[in-house]
Amino acid sequence: MRRVGVVGSGYVGTVVAACFADIGHSVVALEMDEQKVEALSSGLLPFHEPELGELLRSGLRSGNLRFTSHVDDAVAASDVIFLCVGTPSAPSGRPDLSALEAALRGVARAADAPKVLVTKSTVPVGTGNWVASVVDDEMARRDDPPVPFSVVSNPEFLREGLAVHDFLNPDRVVVGSDDPEALDTVASLYAPILDGATVRDDSDHPVLLRTALCAAEMIKYASNAFLATKISFANEIANICERVGADVGDVTQAIGLDTRIGSKFLDAGVGWGGSCFGKDLSALVTTAHELGYDATLLDAAVTVNRQQRTQVVEKLQRHLGALLGRRVALLGLAFKPGTDDIRDAPAVEIARLLLEVGASVRAHDPVVRAIPGLPGLVIDADPYVAASRADAVVLVTEWPEYQVMDLDRLRDTMRGDLFVDGRNAFTPAHLRGAGFRPVSFGRLDHRAPVERRSSMSGSQG
Ligand code: UDX
Repeated sequence: MRRVGVVGSGYVGTVVAACFADIGHSVVALEMDEQKVEALSSGLLPFHEPELGELLRSGLRSGNLRFTSHVDDAVAASDVIFLCVGTPSAPSGRPDLSALEAALRGVARAADAPKVLVTKSTVPVGTGNWVASVVDDEMARRDDPPVPFSVVSNPEFLREGLAVHDFLNPDRVVVGSDDPEALDTVASLYAPILDGATVRDDSDHPVLLRTALCAAEMIKYASNAFLATKISFANEIANICERVGADVGDVTQAIGLDTRIGSKFLDAGVGWGGSCFGKDLSALVTTAHELGYDATLLDAAVTVNRQQRTQVVEKLQRHLGALLGRRVALLGLAFKPGTDDIRDAPAVEIARLLLEVGASVRAHDPVVRAIPGLPGLVIDADPYVAASRADAVVLVTEWPEYQVMDLDRLRDTMRGDLFVDGRNAFTPAHLRGAGFRPVSFGRLDHRAPVERRSSMSGSQG
């Protein structure tokens, strides 16, 4: 059991704190917002994340987890301190590190004994050195003598909606530091996970990777950049499929079966959103640019993603003409199913674009109830109400409840019959069967069944 501190009780911090408490460490989480401390201390999560509420409450019950708003308290009670504060994108494209700097200065002022400081927030490559300088400066300023400290980067790869699962069943744990002892300390925190004690499925034991500090920072960006590029690649293929008359589902299924490519993250549609991909790509592109390299491929991945959103408007215009006065219903507002997160959500951008061209827009989402800054958007508690008298519905987030919707009823409440399937969640034939005019992203309306033979004769190119 180790004494772990977690600075910042946002999304990542709360997952890290509750999961470390769950595997037996003594965890104190530091959060400046007293209301949040109060809520979390009484077992209430301020956001939606499966499994996390139970873990939070069991940590509080066992005494392994507590929350505080006092820096001195948190720093005195921990030897390894995870920095999980927000690093939002500044207008320049670089992450804004002011919250991280404030946290570091607070920790440096309070440190009474040697500490290992771990960056968990996604920070620009090279931030490790900056962290050391900030802490060094602050310690030099205080009345007490400075205490030794080390810096480790331990990036998170947590998907929203699956964060607890991903923390306890990771593919890999990356720890980067130029101090081998600090690196061992952080790696040892993950022992139960690395030993397979928390593995739930039949996946292999996670791999522990020890790297230099800067490489660990780069690994986080490279992973997200690759995933985002893979989706943009699938979307580009879908756009070409539409023009040549091929079904993108057939194409991505077949290419995904090549183990060098893999089948995940090849679903075409309105593209990626969320708090990570856009922010991380923009930070990586900016870092590269500042160092004299134009990240052409990553720029293109962002451009394709932006176009997928505008394509919704173009597809509606192609079928409905000018959208002024047209009624459009959006199904799904969260950036993906299983979360209430609307940061960089395609739906928000699509709603904004539609409102700009004079359409009237209603929406439904199983968990999102409001979108700040879009007063023109009406959000209904029922998808059928959102679609009533609409000219078109657009499925933006593939929540499972939409898959089992009564499509006939939906169609009957509308005045039009257009169904833009922004996630290729239905086959066009299925939508047509319910009386819709289906519009997809690269799927064929009447596709011939794919011939699947176990053995093929002749050579293949
Ligand atoms: C991502 C990374 O997966 C995670 O490792 C990282 O640390 C944080 O960012 P998250 O943002 O929670 O996680 O979502 P993810 O499940 O990766 O999906 C991102 C976006 O891509 C969603 O908007 C999703 O709808 C979209 N997506 C995903 C596609 O458009 N097509 C796909 O094939 C897969």
